[in-house]
Order: sequence, then structure tokens, then C-alpha cells
Amino acid sequence: MKLAEQLEVLHSREAVQKRIAEIAAQIQSDHQGKELVLVGVLKGAFMFVADLARHIDLPLSIDFVGLSSYGEATESSGVVKITSDLTRPIEGKHVVIVEDIIDTGLTMRYLLDNLATRRPASVKICTLLQKPSRSRTRISIDYLGFTVPDLFVVGYGLDAGERYRNLPFIGVLKPGKG
Ligand code: IMP
Ligand code: MG
Repeated sequence: MKLAEQLEVLHSREAVQKRIAEIAAQIQSDHQGKELVLVGVLKGAFMFVADLARHIDLPLSIDFVGLSSYGEATESSGVVKITSDLTRPIEGKHVVIVEDIIDTGLTMRYLLDNLATRRPASVKICTLLQKPSRSRTRISIDYLGFTVPDLFVVGYGLDAGERYRNLPFIGVLKPGKG
């Protein structure tokens, strides 16, 4: 059985790509003449960073941070650790954090607090997806792709047990699959 047949499509490849081009245009106009750093959150944002960056016609740099939350597999505990840090300082730079999904928001809260200690000129948040119904902390999102219902979504970088990251669309596992 093909991988894609195990899923219901929530946002098609075309819809995702169209939205990314729109977000990139916003980031571009907000960062004219500024030293921009895209900070992708591994692993989920790898595909989003790659597509987003291709649409931003500005000199920029790209870095990644690896985060993992302790505790349960599918639910964020709010206790986060950095598994792989940025390779360069961000002091004085304009940072856009690029994330796959903001669920409870606890992971993003931790990252914001951590990056703030490094004295960037500004920090903005860009997330492809958000589950507003699950929010547990107030995070102001500057660039948002789509809101999604309270379902476990996969594809376009997002995984279930490390699978489905390679799908070019956002989907939901059909019951009994995966
Ligand atoms: P938060 O701390 O609850 O906001 O969790 C954020 C992280 O949990 C995301 O960066 C994802 O890695 C993971 N996550 C949350 N919801 C989903 C989902 O529906 N599918 C895949 N990963 C998810
Ligand atoms: Mg993530």
C-alpha cells in the first residue's frame, strides 16, 4: 500500500506551496535591509525551511536548533532540552523561528526564552501549523500557514514515530493505519 493511501489529505501539496510563497513575501517585506537569520526547529521544520527560504529574495543565513521534550511521545510536557544548538551567535540579528506546528506552545515558549538571552535584535515566529484549541501559553505568531483541528497531523516534515515526514502534503492518519 502506498504511504499516501494511509492518510486523509488536510492541506494539499499545492495549497501548502501557495501559502508558503505568501508567507515568504511577508517575511521579505518585513526584513528589508535587516540581517535575517532563519532558525529552523529540527526535525519537523526541515522541509518548510527549505521551501520558505527559496522564496525569500534577501541575503539571509539559515541555522537549526534541535529540541526534544522529555516525557510522553505525543504530548509536550513543557520540559524541553536542546539536543543540537545553533552554530552561530544571533546577537544583533533579526531572527525568524521556523517551526512545523505549535500545539500546546510549551516548546516555543522555552525556545523564545532561551533565544532572548542571546540578545537578538528581534525574534519573530513562523509556524506552518497551529492547533489553537490546545494552546496552554500565550504565544504571538507572526507568520502562520494554517490552523488545524485537534487531530494528530503528519506529512511535510511532521512525523508519527518518525514516519511520514517525506510526504509533500499535510494529512491525518486514517483510523487503524500507521
Ligand atoms: P508543543 O510544545 O505542545 O507546542 O509541541 C510542539 C511539538 O510537538 C511540535 O514541534 C511537534 O514536533 C510535535 N507535535 C505536536 N502536535 C503534532 C502533530 O499533530 N503531529 C506531529 N507532531 C506534533
Ligand atoms: Mg517540532
